[in-house]
Amino acid sequence: MKISVLFPAAGSGERLGRGPKAFLEVGGKTLLEWALEGFEWADERIVALPPGAGFTRPGVRTVVGGPTRQGSVFNALRVASGTLVLVHDVARPFVVRAAVERLLQAVRGRGAATLVAPVPDTLVENLHHEYGETLPRERYRLVQTPQGFERELLWRAHLAAQAASTEFTDDAQLVISLGHPVALVEGDRRMFKVTYPEDLLLAEGLAQVWEG
Ligand code: CTP
Ligand code: MG
Repeated sequence: MKISVLFPAAGSGERLGRGPKAFLEVGGKTLLEWALEGFEWADERIVALPPGAGFTRPGVRTVVGGPTRQGSVFNALRVASGTLVLVHDVARPFVVRAAVERLLQAVRGRGAATLVAPVPDTLVENLHHEYGETLPRERYRLVQTPQGFERELLWRAHLAAQAASTEFTDDAQLVISLGHPVALVEGDRRMFKVTYPEDLLLAEGLAQVWEG
């Protein structure tokens, strides 16, 4: 089955405050390069870039991203040709091959799946800066990427969300809103998202010992 990997890379990196994260360097490579390398085996790779960004790479297609992550994925998806598509945040530079294999197996069987990680800490409601109700953390998961779908299913989900003007922070929510279940697959904590300035230090450290 032909597999396309879509890379939303068009975010502005506001919480980190150093411009688009795709072009930040960690261990001598940009986050975009790290993410692309993690999927070199794929049949097709498509990157949604910030408007005006110049990036070319043999064998990698580029499109202009949208104003939201969902819009960026949509722009990449419309040119994708795989039977299955994986969507992977460029802000997650460390791609653990074993986790991606687990995901692919679930997508082939169930049509839609996402990597998730357990919640390591006690989870509490912030009640005006006071300790509110605790949530049973074993019932919750942190959503990672890649997420994988049959391309036709994800396309229908995006069209439906557009028609309804709904905006989601990941593709699993789009597919669920169509009524299709999304399987949860064990991810890997090394596939964390570089979001805040201190995450860059963690990424720099991991880059030094990374063996791919
Ligand atoms: N993304 C995108 N297009 C957008 C917004 C986000 O392709 N319009 C991508 C980002 O490049 C990133 C992924 O979606 O790879 C996850 O988003 P996030 O971590 O929120 O990145 P940013 O939106 O860039 O960061 P922030 O929310 O702090 O501004
Ligand atoms: Mg964002």
